[in-house]
Amino acid sequence: MPHPSRRALIGGGAVAAGAATAAYLARPGTPSTAEPAPAEIPAVEPFHGTHQAGIATPPQVHAAFLGFDLRPGIARADLGRLMRLLTDDARRLTAGRTGLADAQPELAGLPARLTVTFGFGPGLFRAAKLEHLRPLADLPAFPVDRLEKRWSGGDLLVQLCADDGVTLAHALRLIVKDARDFATVRWTQRGFRRSAQPQGQTQRNLMGQLDGTVQPADLDRSVWISDGPAWLRGGTLMVLRRIRMDLEKWDAADEGTKEFAMGRRLSTGAPLTGTREHDEPDLTKTAATGFTVIDDIAHIRLAKAADPALRMLRRGYNYDETVSPDGVTDSGLIFACYQADLARQFVPVQRRLAASDLLNDWTTPIGSAVFALPPGCAEDGWIGAGLLA
Ligand code: HEM
Repeated sequence: MPHPSRRALIGGGAVAAGAATAAYLARPGTPSTAEPAPAEIPAVEPFHGTHQAGIATPPQVHAAFLGFDLRPGIARADLGRLMRLLTDDARRLTAGRTGLADAQPELAGLPARLTVTFGFGPGLFRAAKLEHLRPLADLPAFPVDRLEKRWSGGDLLVQLCADDGVTLAHALRLIVKDARDFATVRWTQRGFRRSAQPQGQTQRNLMGQLDGTVQPADLDRSVWISDGPAWLRGGTLMVLRRIRMDLEKWDAADEGTKEFAMGRRLSTGAPLTGTREHDEPDLTKTAATGFTVIDDIAHIRLAKAADPALRMLRRGYNYDETVSPDGVTDSGLIFACYQADLARQFVPVQRRLAASDLLNDWTTPIGSAVFALPPGCAEDGWIGAGLLA
């Protein structure tokens, strides 16, 4: 199938919607039939490379995270076959080509920045009899956790992200079918981000906060693994936490309380000691009361890494599932973060947050899983070959 042109691909997509909004706002009074300027953003995210796509990739609008349990008796050679199959379909679909046994080939032409990212959970190393190479310890228990099995654990992760919901659903079905003989689906977590917003601007989560302001400056130091076992170099370690938000309780809190808990303003995302989103928080500044302006247990103080090289890459998605009969939503954050070293990056931050974060009044972790994400592969390679070949 020929590659559709860039312009054809973005027409009607989320990016075009963002451009349309911007164009409309910039020219008040413009008739609604005005053509938005086409946005220059590629609709194909390259699948091949040093690192897997879907990690440093600017987040797409839709995501589905799938956690699989390997079927009993699956061994290393089977895992090699599975990963060859999955890689092959992922490279086709992300390029806008049909999958191998694609029953809806007409859905494959719009890749919409689809990425398919694979991760190996602790159980995969056991099944492959490669426990000595396992780079992941299970996370310690945190006092705030109310973990449910239906959102936790998993031997294999497939993370699918795309700017188009139909593209995502089509890719998901193919991938799940590929895996059927080897694994069962343990959980599916679907999430979304704003589409009507230009790339590069920090997004708001369902609590209304600007979320994603402080990120690592140097991914080579903070995210990609550069030493240790050869099969993992260029890969990373991922923590996926499902965090429920009590939005009814949050609605009842006043703005001052909400900003105090975070240490940042809701309107601008600026730290309480500054005026703009990216101002450096002054953690020592005191108010007339003698207390620090950014509280001792405000979220941004406790979450801050002492060494910027130890920051984690956060790439979260909102979830908003069924509504109860009396109108209460099931909402929260699929908190996905990526780092080179769990023990030095995620764990100390989560320990501090679990001990005293003011935000804990409104949030509860209900799911948790860890995965090792192998490096990317070349056009003739497959993801995980360094471990499983
Ligand atoms: C529903 C739960 C959570 C919400 C709503 C939330 C929200 C936020 C917001 C609004 C910010 C400030 C803006 C920014 O820099 O992005 C922030 C910062 C941050 N959060 Fe969270 N967060 C949550 C859970 C977590 C968890 C579980 C972790 C890690 C264990 C975490 C780690 C961080 C880090 C590292 C920062 C940047 C801190 C800094 O260096 O300034 N957050 N979060």
